[in-house]
Order: sequence, then C-alpha cells, then structure tokens
Amino acid sequence: MLCLLIGTVTAVRLQPNLNTASGVPVEMPANESMRREWFYKVWGGWPPTMHIPSKKPIKERPAWTKYQNNKEAALRVGAKTESRSWQWEQWLEKVQIRAIDSYTEKGWGLDTMPAATHQVINNYFRDAWEDKKFSPEGAKFFGRITGERRMVSLSTAHKILIQDTLIEMIGQWSGIGAENLEPTSTYGIRAYMNESTLKTHVDRCETHILSAVYCVEDSYPKGVDRWPMVADGDFLGERVSVAIPPGKIFYYESSKLMHGRPDVMNGHYSAHVFVHFRPKGWNLVNTDRVYGVPPGWDDPRHPGWDTNGYRTGPRAHHVHDGVEL
Ligand SMILES: [Fe+2]
Repeated sequence: MLCLLIGTVTAVRLQPNLNTASGVPVEMPANESMRREWFYKVWGGWPPTMHIPSKKPIKERPAWTKYQNNKEAALRVGAKTESRSWQWEQWLEKVQIRAIDSYTEKGWGLDTMPAATHQVINNYFRDAWEDKKFSPEGAKFFGRITGERRMVSLSTAHKILIQDTLIEMIGQWSGIGAENLEPTSTYGIRAYMNESTLKTHVDRCETHILSAVYCVEDSYPKGVDRWPMVADGDFLGERVSVAIPPGKIFYYESSKLMHGRPDVMNGHYSAHVFVHFRPKGWNLVNTDRVYGVPPGWDDPRHPGWDTNGYRTGPRAHHVHDGVEL
C-alpha cells in the first residue's frame, strides 16, 4: 500500500515538461535524488536509446558505438584522478554526443566558399590585417583555448553575406533545407596565432547544431603543415584530421561531433569565421543534458556500471525484489 502511494506521488511529481526536448524540468534539479528520478524516468539507463529532440530510436554505426564506449571507459578510469567538476563537464558532453539527433552520415563535410563571397571577405581581412585593425582577444589561456588570438571585426553587411551564403549550403549538406534552419551566431574573423591549441569539445546544445568554420586566410612558413581540424571521432567511428585552406569550409554537427584543434599550430596565423544554425523549433535546453547524466558518473566502481553501460536503477531493483512500481 505504501509502495503504491509513493508510486502515485512520484508519478504526479514527474509529469513530463513539454517545453524541454526530453521531457525533464527546465529548472535545475534541487538535489541528486531528484536528478536520478528523472534520469530513470526519461532514459532508463545508459547509453541512451532515444534521440533528442526527435525522440526517435537511436540507430548508430557499431564502429561509432565502440568508439564512444572506449572513450567513456577511459573517462570512468580517469575519474580516480580528475576533479569532479571536470568529470561532470565531460559527462554533460557525453549526453550531447550520444543523444542529440544526427543529420549526416559522417557528422562533418568539406566545401568551398563561392569565389565572389570569399573575395569580398578575404580582401577585407587582408586590408584590416595590413593596417593592424584588429583587437587582442582574451588571455593567453581561456577555457579550452591556449595561445594568442586577434579579432578583425566583421560589419553587419559582411555577416549577412556570409550567413545568407552558408544557410543555403548547410541546408543542402544537412538535407534539412535552408527554409528549415535559423541562424544563431556568426562570429569572427578570429585569427589564431602561432602555438595555439583548441581542445576537442562539443558546442552549446541550445544553439550550435549545424555549423561551419570558414577559413578566410592563413600564413605558414614554407613547408609547414596547416593546423588541422580534428573530429574525435566522426559518426563512422574514425578520428579525422583535416586541413582547411583559405576559401574552404568545414561543416560539422557541432553539438554532437567532438571537434577541435588539439595539435599545436606552427604557423603565423589562421583566420576563421564561425557560423552556427539550428533547425527551426529546436527545443533542447541545458537541463535536457543535466538530467541525462547517468548515476555513478563520478564513481568507476559504481555497481550500476558494466561493460554494456549503466543499467541498474530503481526499477530493476524493485523488479528484482518482486515489487512492480
Ligand atoms: Fe566548437
């Protein structure tokens, strides 16, 4: 009787929220037990079996699954030595990587900026660079970035030109169509200077979904390789390292595809514009991922973990005890 009563109270309290992609509250959990309750209700276990925001069953390539399993196993081993806040951030990223919808086969692609658009932006950058019309951007170390950066600000007209060009191209690359995308951010021209690094990461899950890095200009000593963009790993389950010369574009599903430039740049500079879009109606919010992190994320010896993921939960426990909730 008491169990039934608790079950009823819990069911009322855990009414799905239609304003979030997975149905969890918009508000942050008040405590870990509230977070756990929602995790079991929405996800049931780890890894996720449902995409968000579409709620379609996850169908992924075995090589990609294996790649992610290996990275998560390494993360759990690392939990012995890393700080809790670092582990938590990593697990929030894991929720994005595993659960967010995918749109393309590989998660990334290469293309060329139409010559007329590239010429306008490239000329503007070269003039500004020569006249030293740039501002230093941030400290030597900021979050995931190390090294000096300089910003050549784009005019509104330049931003619109780039955005209007890329919305068509990304609409085609993703298969969604430009009419179903909305721009969320156009940023640059950021020049990374010699010895820069950028740790691999995923972008903001609310806004940075289908994205492009457009290389405006770069400069390297003779014979030195370009600073590559790295996808770790792509949806085919491979680690990809690819150079993006001036005039070229790197497309990426930036909330799901782990990306960055972890190698040290050995050049004078590499200048880029970052352009982000999301599908219209996108309702994924931060708490979708907060409630998606599996219990035991900070304890590699947690009994819920085995080689297939994290499956132990209150439901399994009660069924085991012969009590259905
Ligand atoms: Fe990024």
